[in-house]
Amino acid sequence: MLKITFHGHACFVLEADGRRVIIDPFITGNPATDVSLDRLPKVDAVLLSHGHGDHLGDAVPIARRDAATIVATFELAKFCEKQGAVAHAMHIGGAHQFPFGRVKLVPAFHGGQIEGDDTGRYTTNPCGIVATLGGRAVYHTGDTALTLEMQLLAGQVDVLLCPIGDNYTMGIEDAARAVEFVKPRTVIPMHYGTWDVIAADPEAFKRQVAGRAEVVVLKPGQSHTLA
Ligand code: NI
Ligand code: MN
Repeated sequence: MLKITFHGHACFVLEADGRRVIIDPFITGNPATDVSLDRLPKVDAVLLSHGHGDHLGDAVPIARRDAATIVATFELAKFCEKQGAVAHAMHIGGAHQFPFGRVKLVPAFHGGQIEGDDTGRYTTNPCGIVATLGGRAVYHTGDTALTLEMQLLAGQVDVLLCPIGDNYTMGIEDAARAVEFVKPRTVIPMHYGTWDVIAADPEAFKRQVAGRAEVVVLKPGQSHTLA
């Protein structure tokens, strides 16, 4: 059984087999979140798609508080280590089996600068994350354009977490094409509505997907469970 809880913007908590991981923990300063750091339950790991402030977010304070491991591309992992967190460095194309499950990093087309790195030394490739917990594969695309690389994951993904907000990432039309590429059972839209510039209507996305996958629209604080 896998439980997916949305905490606004691109932040999700995945829980299975008594383990809990958080992806892109943008909580402090997130106008769309439902939680605060002190109400966020203890996590085993923090998975990061990239270093922009709305994704790196509270990763280091959470990792330090919970003695959790940050999982990220090599340069971003090194940046987090420098801030005093424990990090596991990976890179795109690589997978690793952790106590909580398996993580594979996959390509994303986006910017690689890291919030808080004034030197620019840690700038890295952004990535998507395929996390397999409780026997279910979740693909968090990170911030990305639609890319043909997504087709490589066709049939391997149970749940797609996909931006629809446009401007910085895919908008609704490209996100619906991503669903065609990946062929997940379920898709949960993200990265929209946090600010006016990424306003989008998830019901319009649902119409665009047109039955090719189950579209689950979560409000911050809501969960979706897979048996
Ligand atoms: Ni970004
Ligand atoms: Mn973003």
